[in-house]
Amino acid sequence: MEFQDALKKRCSCRSFTNERVSDEDVKKIIAAAQNAPLALGDNQTSHLTVVRDPEIMEAIRAACMLKRKDGTLIDPLFGATTMIFFSATDISDDHIEYCNAGCVIENMCMAAADLGLGSCYIWGCLKKLRKNEEALALLKLPEGYEVLSAFVCGYPTEPIEDRVDRDNIAMDIL
Ligand SMILES: Cc1cc2nc3c(=O)[nH]c(=O)nc-3n(C[C@H](O)[C@H](O)[C@H](O)COP(=O)(O)O)c2cc1C
Repeated sequence: MEFQDALKKRCSCRSFTNERVSDEDVKKIIAAAQNAPLALGDNQTSHLTVVRDPEIMEAIRAACMLKRKDGTLIDPLFGATTMIFFSATDISDDHIEYCNAGCVIENMCMAAADLGLGSCYIWGCLKKLRKNEEALALLKLPEGYEVLSAFVCGYPTEPIEDRVDRDNIAMDIL
């Protein structure tokens, strides 16, 4: 897909079918993550965890589940069956590792768009996951690492429409 077309197709998908993404597509998404920019090229403090195992995925989903005011549950992973976590250790005072996370996740989102997949940046529900030691242990993170951001991808239940161009970030041209 042309880059400009992929940019138009990249959107936050919030409803996935249960069809599994192929190993080949996951490999391409991982390659996009591995090729993302990292501050000072520091790959020594970064870590990726690719969750494909259905049982682990369901345990993570259960740990992340959010509740509406009326008590009904919301799946914050939107039915996705593939999730990739970005973790880091030795978090610096300026928290630059979170910038690394953003770059890595966005590269994966663009790769997913290029493959015709839906994807979403996952942040909000990680707060719950971090407090759930049992679920966190399933990620087998190396000692001292913490989850900073995550990504889900899959086949969208509805076709992804081309984005209408936005220009809603305030801007000065000097
Ligand atoms: C740092 C970051 C964290 C985000 N966290 C979540 C999240 O936890 N859950 C979610 O559904 N969307 C999340 N999003 C997606 C945004 O809500 C989404 O990008 C925004 O509404 C614009 O929509 P678009 O991605 O379809 O262009 C996150 C996006 C970013 C950049």
